[in-house]
Amino acid sequence: MKGIILAGGSGTRLRPLTKVTSKQLLPVYDQPMIFYPLQTLLTAGIKDILIIIAPDHAGDFLKLLGSGKEFQAKFSYEIQDKPEGLAQAFIIGKNFIGYDNVTLILGDNLYEDDFSEAIRTFKSGGRVFIKKVPDPERFGVAEFDETGKVISIEEKPKQPKSTYAVTGLYIYDNSVVQKAASLQPSSRGELEITDLNNLFLKERALDVAFVKGAWLDTGTHESLFAAGALMRKKKLG
Ligand code: TTP
Repeated sequence: MKGIILAGGSGTRLRPLTKVTSKQLLPVYDQPMIFYPLQTLLTAGIKDILIIIAPDHAGDFLKLLGSGKEFQAKFSYEIQDKPEGLAQAFIIGKNFIGYDNVTLILGDNLYEDDFSEAIRTFKSGGRVFIKKVPDPERFGVAEFDETGKVISIEEKPKQPKSTYAVTGLYIYDNSVVQKAASLQPSSRGELEITDLNNLFLKERALDVAFVKGAWLDTGTHESLFAAGALMRKKKLG
């Protein structure tokens, strides 16, 4: 299993904090934000990790994270020239992924859960993790049938069909590379991970699991502040 941390994007909602640096380098209590998703992958036993970054702050990521030796891991880097969508990670990461399975985590998503078991038991298809949220319209939202099975995922729907958001950690088999290459940009000009997940769903190959502990998407001032407060509380007890 290989790992990718997607840490590009423009961070417009966090301006002016992101005017001179990248969102994923901002502090969340006592660590740069990217340390948290990195720790999630390392704890899950993933040591071969590609970090995808925007061109502007590439040097800063390299300075912060280096080769990975310090983390008993191996880091590679790729540049995403423009923020053209989450699913582009599998196009940029094609050579890195090779013939392996891959776990993608978003560089601004913080989890309490340990995903070791989910990764160890993964065989094929895709596996996503959902969580009940008060503001589903900000995310990919799962639609369930009467038996509780997920039948579709809608990206940022105005009228969400549930309050379950698809969170920012995704496990895929190697077919993700070829599936990502077949995607067309959405109306907002991005290769959508929701479209990718729907391709797996169509093949009845998408497993949907629940996030048990806290999950924070730190893309807004409020959520960034909440994440800092949570990490402080966990550390200080
Ligand atoms: P978002 O928070 O959706 O986008 P953003 O970071 O550009 O922020 P904003 O909407 O405020 O402008 O992105 C989720 C994560 O994915 C975040 O860590 C940035 C990353 N990302 C990329 O690396 N490349 C992309 O093309 C996109 C869309 C996001």
